[in-house]
Amino acid sequence: MTDSIDDFVLKFQSEILNEIKKTYGEKVYERWLNPLYMGSIKDPDGYARLKGRCEDTMEIFLVFEDDRVKQASFQTDGCGSSIVCGSYAAEMALGKSPDELLEVTAEAILEKLGGLPKEDEHCAFLAAEALHEALNGFMIKQAARKRNKL
Ligand code: FES
Repeated sequence: MTDSIDDFVLKFQSEILNEIKKTYGEKVYERWLNPLYMGSIKDPDGYARLKGRCEDTMEIFLVFEDDRVKQASFQTDGCGSSIVCGSYAAEMALGKSPDELLEVTAEAILEKLGGLPKEDEHCAFLAAEALHEALNGFMIKQAARKRNKL
């Protein structure tokens, strides 16, 4: 009896996962299973926490070295797509200068991950906006540091 319930659950899980893979594509599916760059960074140079219109929150953490992103990460309490978009936003931020970070837009994230269903595209916008807001935080800190040195 237990075996047949276990088999049923396994089959059911596998069908759901296959459906997700079919709907979202291999790249999104793999990143959802293995969300790189997830977690917080202590004392980041740039940080932002934004709430989307869906009420989900996206946080981005940036650490700079020699005016380039040395470390980046994200956290979200949002959907699977927001996890994937946050992960790609952090990945795409690595090694970038402040100017180059502005090129990490929602469109660029969507292109990188091979697109999302229309109703999930706003998750990429939330990730990109949080990234740009974190950059803004860094720029403000930089300006304050320069002012204090004068
Ligand atoms: Fe809110 Fe994806 S539904 S970020």
